[in-house]
Amino acid sequence: MTAIDPTHIPENLYPVLDALCATGAQLSQVIARGALGPSLAAGVGENSDGDQQKALDVMADEMFEAALRGTGVRHYASEEQEEVLTLDADGAWALATDPLDGSSNIDVNVTIGTIFSIFPATADANASFLRPASEQVAAGYIAYGPQCLLALTFGAGTMLFALDPGTGRFELAQARMQVPTQAGEFSINASNRRHWIAPVRRYVEEAEAGETGDKGRNMNFRWVGSLVAETHRILTRGGTFLYPSDARNGYENGRLRMVYEVAPMAMLVEQAGGQATDGTAPILSLTARELHERRPFVFGSAEEVARIAALHG
Ligand code: F6P
Ligand code: MN
Repeated sequence: MTAIDPTHIPENLYPVLDALCATGAQLSQVIARGALGPSLAAGVGENSDGDQQKALDVMADEMFEAALRGTGVRHYASEEQEEVLTLDADGAWALATDPLDGSSNIDVNVTIGTIFSIFPATADANASFLRPASEQVAAGYIAYGPQCLLALTFGAGTMLFALDPGTGRFELAQARMQVPTQAGEFSINASNRRHWIAPVRRYVEEAEAGETGDKGRNMNFRWVGSLVAETHRILTRGGTFLYPSDARNGYENGRLRMVYEVAPMAMLVEQAGGQATDGTAPILSLTARELHERRPFVFGSAEEVARIAALHG
């Protein structure tokens, strides 16, 4: 793990962080106006992978791309764009983002977010991102919810900042987030139950059996439908999240994208004492082979994730 001491962040990373924060603060204002402004949830097309794009997906991508120009980001990879863009030929950083995560929640006033992952840039645009997830130098998310929050790691713990709506600045709210080792809640899209693989079925049966089963304690079920919101809940009070591979066409590797969803969330969670796996290997030991590839994703409280990994055999 390339750890950056948060008190010694490289000077040339500050403009990137500033642009992310300023754009996040702007986006939170756009989102807060919600139904008073132009429709943010209107369908405007499809991205390269056939996912429906909403107006806010495209707006967020355009805002981050524009704000990151001139900040030292050499390569910019976005869920909303098929190819990596070169923003600054001399830049030191490669930044991947899901500019607007949880788009199905845009029009229902439920938390949505931005996820980002930063690697040192190499000359080759794609190769900058197709490397072990452990080589990320920073990862974070911005959650647009009742509060606008920024969770951020440089590989030496996970910090939480809150946007002060009065000043437009993100202020430190928690210097070191810590995921409890035991989980009281589990999260999975239960409507896919009939498609699940055996280890996932087994884990959910254990969780549902609660105090009458091997677990000997009850668990609650939660599913928000925004990865950022679920991750924030788990970073705050523990729990597990599963988006496993399943038997549906196109879900052989689950739903979530390795480079700009799974890898950054895995780094944030592990830096807060949790664990993240694809079922068989720690996410941070894995290397993406394609920019938009999917990865089965299980993360959360360490003891529970270890149990899920054990069930995968
Ligand atoms: O970005 C993909 C995403 O919207 C995540 O934010 C969320 O965790 C998941 O997909 C929701 O999946 P489903 O549509 O199966 O509920
Ligand atoms: Mn997403």
